[in-house]
Amino acid sequence: MTDPVIVAIDGPAGSGKSSVSKQAARALGFGYLDTGAAYRALAWHALEHGIDTSDAASVLDVSGDFDFAISLDPDAYTVRVGAADVTEAIREPRVAEAVSGVARVPAVRESVNALFRALVAGSGRRGVIVEGRDITTVVAPDAPVRILLTAAPEVRAARRSAEVSTQDAASVAAAMHKRDASDSSVVDFLTAAPGVTVVDSTDLDFEQTVEAVLDVVRTGRRTQ
Ligand code: DC
Repeated sequence: MTDPVIVAIDGPAGSGKSSVSKQAARALGFGYLDTGAAYRALAWHALEHGIDTSDAASVLDVSGDFDFAISLDPDAYTVRVGAADVTEAIREPRVAEAVSGVARVPAVRESVNALFRALVAGSGRRGVIVEGRDITTVVAPDAPVRILLTAAPEVRAARRSAEVSTQDAASVAAAMHKRDASDSSVVDFLTAAPGVTVVDSTDLDFEQTVEAVLDVVRTGRRTQ
């Protein structure tokens, strides 16, 4: 079987990346891989072990027994660590606070990237939308379709706070900006690399953003 077509989508929190990628995957009959979920699941795993996630050596140590599984079915999105279903738990604020520490360890990034490539290759799908921060640049720089999905910071903050009901809007915006600053010191996900198409969702609703992404996929694939 030939390797699946990869649609690589990067972007910051609140750009609509996850929901848009999932919906575009449904429309194309593709798989959907949320790479941020792997970093979040590892942060959850580290917290379960009482690890200080700002300590790279401890993170690396605990990543040795990280048994991660994720479904690539956009209609049955589940994330597991060992026997635990962590699909909901990895969205908790404590995990969001810890995840940048985990994601900044180079050896962790190398091993999760190898895992992502294996998941895509073994997906049995015609294509997979792979979504994250460094997919267009590091994980799948040769993907036939590469997109940077952006939106103005205030729009991203408003979308994030609509998603997170347990915190007030100001705290959500503050936490998002803090994580953006921390994450962008590891991977530049706010600038499009050469050959990457920017889709700006600031003035688009959800359906329009999905259509804009599908347009890039159709155009990109036509030119292959
Ligand atoms: O997209 P997200 O918010 O679920 O991502 C969780 C964290 O993982 C985020 O802080 C950045 C990091 N991440 C990364 O460094 N590289 C990726 N490919 C995906 C996510």
